[in-house]
Amino acid sequence: MAADKYSAVMALQREHCSVRQFRDEAIEEDLLMSILESAQCAASSSFIQGYSIVRVTDRQARSTIAHAAGDQRWIEEAAEFFVLCADLLRTDHACRAAGLGALEGHTEHFLAAIIDTALFAQNVVLAAESVGLGGVFIGGIRNDPQCIADTLSLPRLVFPAFGLYLGWPTEPCESKPRLPLASILHSDRYDQNRIDDDLARYDTIMAEYYGARSSNQKQSNWTEQTAGTLQKKTRDHMLAFLQQQGFLLK
Ligand SMILES: Cc1cc2nc3c(=O)[nH]c(=O)nc-3n(C[C@H](O)[C@H](O)[C@H](O)COP(=O)(O)O)c2cc1C
Repeated sequence: MAADKYSAVMALQREHCSVRQFRDEAIEEDLLMSILESAQCAASSSFIQGYSIVRVTDRQARSTIAHAAGDQRWIEEAAEFFVLCADLLRTDHACRAAGLGALEGHTEHFLAAIIDTALFAQNVVLAAESVGLGGVFIGGIRNDPQCIADTLSLPRLVFPAFGLYLGWPTEPCESKPRLPLASILHSDRYDQNRIDDDLARYDTIMAEYYGARSSNQKQSNWTEQTAGTLQKKTRDHMLAFLQQQGFLLK
């Protein structure tokens, strides 16, 4: 597609990359609040707005979370760090207030809250990137969700889904090639016959990218990276933690 066919938002989306090096510079409060408020305009399942965001300013709390997330030091260094939580506590209050009884831990309700959280979170990042900020989501906090819940006093029906830090990048972005559109786009019926060929083609693209990028070059491809990462990160404590928080009971 010719560049003039992109809207400004599409061009910005195509420039996305996760940023891990920041200038030592704060984000103005008004700007930060307008990013968060704009992001709240994301669509929401049944309009439950099933998320909360905890801004972590306390240095000790940041350090505890950075350690729990696998010693990801940028959590301590970035201008802002947030924990994005799937939150059904407000909805639970609403159900009780309306005389319809407490929520009972239905899987469907958890999914709705998680989807809302992710839509809000992506909107935060897009808004932040639109003003020149950068950041990264931090799934590493799920290594020890109990530690995160204790550190941030998260009540029942609130789940720390992932972190997000934001700051002013020091370097220009280097975006990673995504799967070719044809690999994720199906027409009328899901076509599983093409998966292996698609992956072989994408592995070639990613091997080239990993070998040529400006930092952290390596000889690898998407299949190796993804398989290695996913099979290591099973986080077997997750179901018990979620159930303790009042989710996935039905
Ligand atoms: C939910 C989620 C959790 C993530 N967790 C981490 C993390 O803990 N540490 C990290 O360095 N990057 C993390 N990432 C960033 C991904 O590694 C990154 O988005 C992916 O490699 C694609 O690269 P890009 O964002 O630069 O395009 C996370 C991304 C998402 C969406």
